[in-house]
Amino acid sequence: MSQKKKILCVVGTRPEAIKMAPVILALKKEPWADVRVLATAQHRHMLDQVLDFFSIEPDIDLDIMRPNQALTTLTARLLLDLDDVLLAEKPDAVLVQGDTTTVMTVALACFYHRILIGHVEAGLRTGDMQNPFPEEANRVIASKLAKWHFAPTEGSRQNLLREGISADDVIMTGNTVIDALLMTASKELDLGVQLDPEKRLVLVTSHRRENFGEPFKNICRALHTLAINNPDVQFLYPVHPNPNVKDVAYSVLGDVSNFILCEPLDYAPFVAAMKHAYLILTDSGGVQEEAPALGKPVLVLREETERPEAVEEDVVKLVGSNYEYIVSETQRLLDDNEAYSAMARGVSPYGDGLASARIVKTLSDHFC
Ligand code: UD1
Ligand code: UDP
Repeated sequence: MSQKKKILCVVGTRPEAIKMAPVILALKKEPWADVRVLATAQHRHMLDQVLDFFSIEPDIDLDIMRPNQALTTLTARLLLDLDDVLLAEKPDAVLVQGDTTTVMTVALACFYHRILIGHVEAGLRTGDMQNPFPEEANRVIASKLAKWHFAPTEGSRQNLLREGISADDVIMTGNTVIDALLMTASKELDLGVQLDPEKRLVLVTSHRRENFGEPFKNICRALHTLAINNPDVQFLYPVHPNPNVKDVAYSVLGDVSNFILCEPLDYAPFVAAMKHAYLILTDSGGVQEEAPALGKPVLVLREETERPEAVEEDVVKLVGSNYEYIVSETQRLLDDNEAYSAMARGVSPYGDGLASARIVKTLSDHFC
């Protein structure tokens, strides 16, 4: 075989690492690929948690995270560092995942350096640049610049075709989040948090920027009411470390006895928590994809979602940040067995666990 091809896989935040890990592990088995891992470390602790779990050691680490980082500063610092990395590494292709600031800046830097970009989880859209903010803009920009668009669903493939991207460059793969979930959920998992075995568990996560301020306060107030009204139910919320989230969550929910607040859980304990949960309230993208595959009803704490497939299957429902609606819809699922069972069917519209194999095949067809 001629010289190996250098594939630089980039991870910045927790969800990028979870969804890129199966691709990195699959690529490392390919004889033609020289796999290099770049951690921008837009997240520090949460990124390291995931990389440790999948035994992935970054070859380059930009250690970019600063407390309460602003988007413009983060972008500017990333672009400067990426210039040096791309000049030194000279990769044949770069893979990015999702819609974070890391993804947008890496796509732009690679475009300037005329390096091929593969975008994993391409084509998710709400059609509203403000919602989710700033992710919709990040993924639109990445789509404009990428060579390969790895679309997780038919809907995301169609979004890309509507934007004029050639059908030859859009590959429907499924979402690698299901690859990671299947690699993990079958293992013996320890949740690591003391729960009451007699009480049903409501699992909560929330961190989206467009909810910061009043919407997030409403969400916390609704959670407070639900916990007070349901002493026979326990609530678990691993709190995102963003200070805009953490400070409010602890001040509103910190003193409620059946509401457990904790640090972000490692990936395997979090999968254990999802498996244990009766229902899940979240604004997370990844959790919206994982929970249906585990048969757990999800109420989404957002006004919009770029993941309509599970909503169309009636196993995920949007409740936004409206206090009354969050309280009434959660209460309904806690009280009404029929409504609950209808949402706890276990469907997996986001993948079959083979997404990373399809991504690797596309690259190997191109390079070999
Ligand atoms: C980022 C992504 C968002 C993604 C989310 C996943 C952007 C603009 N946002 O949001 O799309 O859904 O990650 O979680 O790319 N922090 C820590 N330790 C950590 C991680 C974060 O302390 O391990 C704190 C820091 O103060 C940091 C702040 O959280 O400055 C915000 O991090 P940032 O990556 O800018 O935004 P997120 O809200 O985490
Ligand atoms: N997750 C985790 N620990 C937690 C909460 C979430 O490992 O305490 C995982 C979850 O299983 C999912 C991913 O983190 O795969 C989602 O990340 P996040 O919600 O931060 O980002 P988003 O998906 O919204 O971009």
